[in-house]
Amino acid sequence: MKRGYSELSGNHVLLGIRGLDEEIGGVPRGSVIAVAGWVGTGKTTLATQFLVEGVKNKERGMYVCTTERVESYVRNMEKLGWPISKLVKSKMLITVRVSKIHESRPQDMIEKLLSIIDTIDIKRLVLDSYTTLTSYFKESWSARLFTYLLLEYLGEKNCTTLLVVETDNDREPRLGDVGFLCDGVIHLRTDFSTEPPRRKLRMLKLRGTRIPLHNFEYEIGEGGIVVLRR
Ligand SMILES: Nc1ncnc2c1ncn2[C@@H]1O[C@H](COP(=O)(O)OP(=O)(O)OP(=O)(O)O)[C@@H](O)[C@H]1O
Ligand SMILES: [Mg+2]
Repeated sequence: MKRGYSELSGNHVLLGIRGLDEEIGGVPRGSVIAVAGWVGTGKTTLATQFLVEGVKNKERGMYVCTTERVESYVRNMEKLGWPISKLVKSKMLITVRVSKIHESRPQDMIEKLLSIIDTIDIKRLVLDSYTTLTSYFKESWSARLFTYLLLEYLGEKNCTTLLVVETDNDREPRLGDVGFLCDGVIHLRTDFSTEPPRRKLRMLKLRGTRIPLHNFEYEIGEGGIVVLRR
């Protein structure tokens, strides 16, 4: 059963993905959703769409990048039609780059991020990518502890979060712990079994919500990702 935008409850927020929001009715406010996918599948695009949707609703967003330079991120996303520089200037969108080069200890990096979230009331957060960020931790148990504490903290703050997770292009991606810890998982992949290849999106889970488990085809263009009707 499809749920329209009008049926969105106050405890849910829209992702900003046309075609998908109508299907799932948005995601619970304060939830942490993993956006898992292979290279070039549109993870950064989807994450930016989510932040722009937040700004439309006066929710301040923060984009944390680990690999791409902020300048290049802004340039690429503006090509899709979003006024990113303007949003940054108005402080409705905060962009931060964290890198191993700049911070000696992962704990310092995390503390810095959390203190920003705290002081300027961030309502939507994107970690792009969570995979790189957690790779800064030497031991897997400390990365797991970080994830657990982060999720606890964000839940308390009611900050809706997308964690970008880099995976292979398999139908069933290997997500590791983060898949189990997150409230929801969106999987993006490129299906090369057809000619031309097709972009496919699938919800793997969304706690507390009935979701369609089938693949949706999607396209990337001006305005970002659009999920096509089946
Ligand atoms: N205007 C456009 N029209 C169609 N496709 C576009 C347009 N702009 C970008 N794309 C495509 O969108 C793809 C995905 O971009 P995006 O950076 O969001 O993917 P990603 O999954 O974050 O990639 P990466 O693995 O490098 O982090 C690009 O590879 C590009 O081919
Ligand atoms: Mg990316």
